[in-house]
Amino acid sequence: MSSKLIAPSVLAADFANLQRDIEMINASDADWFHIDIMDGVFVPNISFGMPVLKAITKHAKKTIDVHLMIVNPDQYIQTFADLGSDILTVHYEACTHLHRTLQAIKAAGMKAGVALNPHTSINVLEDTINDIDMVCLMSVNPGFGGQSFIENTYTKVEQLKALITKKGASTLIEIDGGVTNKNAKQLVDAGADVLVAGSYVFGATNPTDTVKDLKALANS
Ligand code: DX5
Ligand code: ZN
Repeated sequence: MSSKLIAPSVLAADFANLQRDIEMINASDADWFHIDIMDGVFVPNISFGMPVLKAITKHAKKTIDVHLMIVNPDQYIQTFADLGSDILTVHYEACTHLHRTLQAIKAAGMKAGVALNPHTSINVLEDTINDIDMVCLMSVNPGFGGQSFIENTYTKVEQLKALITKKGASTLIEIDGGVTNKNAKQLVDAGADVLVAGSYVFGATNPTDTVKDLKALANS
């Protein structure tokens, strides 16, 4: 079984000590940096934009996993490639021509991810799953860190895993929102490959140990 990955969400970092927090993730057992870009239109919150991402990628030494919670993501694909994104995830709900968007992300040299809101059925990916490198299942309504995990996510992970297997795809399953040591094991047992964790990691007394424990739990 391939190793399960931990992606701390920088949204929960201390922005006044961003370099310190990035170095902490570099030195930890974490696998990726999860970067939340919010535009205040697709979601009711604004996070940060290009100058901050540029500052992050200058110091980050691990895979840059960018989660776009924005309308018209096509407009910024090349910009995010230029800024050093390795994986670019767009929301299904924000894409009129999802297949075209996936092609453009790959043409720009990145892995292509698709995020689904909690209300969006797995079935909508039936015809695109073989073109998707990663599906990000939102286990909270996107827009804010620190929200409670939605229990229906377990069922969706199982449904998505079944679709991936049925179609012979190699798509990774990422879970985003409310991930803690209470749900990590059940999520990977259901089929999750990547666990995003923001407030659980950065809000901990010892974030390095928290990442280590979460990674061990996910791979137990
Ligand atoms: C929510 C973001 C998440 C968020 C996760 O809209 O996409 O990535 O930062 O934060 P926690 O782990 O605190 O729920
Ligand atoms: Zn996210």
